[in-house]
Amino acid sequence: MGKSSKDKRDAYYRLAKEQGWRARSAFKLLQLDEEFDLFKDVTRVVDLCAAPGSWSQVLSRVLIQGQTVGRAAWEDKRYKELLRLRSLGSTAEHEDLPEPGPPPEAKPRKDVKIVAIDLQPMSPLEGITCLKADITHPSTIPLLLKALDPSYDPTTTSTEASHPVDLVLSDGAPDVTGLHDLDIYVQSQLLWAALNLALCVLKPGGTFVAKIFRGKDVDLLYAQLKVVFEGVTVSKPRSSRASSVEAFIVCTNFRPPGGFRASLDHPLGAGRRLGEVGGEAPVARTPPSRRTREDGIMELELGSEPEGDGREIRWVAPFLACGDLGAFDADASHKLPEGHVSLDPVQPPTAPPYKMALEERKKLGGAYGKTKIGTGI
Ligand SMILES: C[S@@+](CC[C@H](N)C(=O)[O-])C[C@H]1O[C@@H](n2cnc3c(N)ncnc32)[C@H](O)[C@@H]1O
Repeated sequence: MGKSSKDKRDAYYRLAKEQGWRARSAFKLLQLDEEFDLFKDVTRVVDLCAAPGSWSQVLSRVLIQGQTVGRAAWEDKRYKELLRLRSLGSTAEHEDLPEPGPPPEAKPRKDVKIVAIDLQPMSPLEGITCLKADITHPSTIPLLLKALDPSYDPTTTSTEASHPVDLVLSDGAPDVTGLHDLDIYVQSQLLWAALNLALCVLKPGGTFVAKIFRGKDVDLLYAQLKVVFEGVTVSKPRSSRASSVEAFIVCTNFRPPGGFRASLDHPLGAGRRLGEVGGEAPVARTPPSRRTREDGIMELELGSEPEGDGREIRWVAPFLACGDLGAFDADASHKLPEGHVSLDPVQPPTAPPYKMALEERKKLGGAYGKTKIGTGI
């Protein structure tokens, strides 16, 4: 398959190269930000499973360079559109439009701290601390705490960060095998590891955003997250293919229950439930409710029902598609613009797990996807 054909089949792959993003995943975070205003008042962020680094690039452009991307770009576009509609004249159709106020100016923020972690080495990004570590390994937490606060003493048993963070992101994904149950299981282990790290470093009021694969028991996870976060929403950005089970869980307003202390000696997910570490599981029955947001979108909470003795409470998290309706559909092929020149990726993977296989194949003369007859490769 040629580069142009991939550009055509995947508009976000093409746009990522044109806009200088290391991966098309950047658009997922930008579209989540459009919806949830993730970076409002944020200066300290942990980016888990960060390689090749497009989410870290988003953080860098928003927090360090003060660029107008994500929510800020969306607000800017909306403001200009309102002005344009108003300039068309004050017909009855436009009279009830709200008086547009200019969106806040995007500018570099002070005292920004961003720590990115991945199993794979990541090419450096200015102003971002990159750690090569396994987020499921207990030795990673002291590394992270030290990176957040150089005065942290790793010999102490305390896992509480002296400088907590505002936002923890995790885009972790295992190398998918195609065996869905296995992939979902491994993904859920990454999610639990990310959550345990988040619980150790998030400040009250903080936000946790993580990739999930929607398996059959995912509603139990939502119920557990609801114990420590006020808002738990599942969201699917337009740049995430509809055919993929991938979605993102956006947990807002971290509110650890009284007496709660995150501990990696007894991490969550290994037989321990959030309800047992100091919090109460969500109330047994929440009636369904509707709410109309300022932007006119109606949010529906389905409520929850107790099951059995009430211990196995499931809870349906609200589901929200995000990303501008005018944004590209990730599942459709798009006509390439006139005079299109296919660009090389901004940052090819530095040490992908398939590197050795590619090298072996090349040695046997089967590079670039062509297979030498008789080698069986
Ligand atoms: C979809 S990619 C992340 C893309 C990234 N957010 C970006 O925007 O460039 C998933 C990443 O998860 C990482 N990963 C998988 N398991 C991990 C683990 N146990 N610890 C750390 N990183 C892990 C992989 O190495 C891979 O780079």
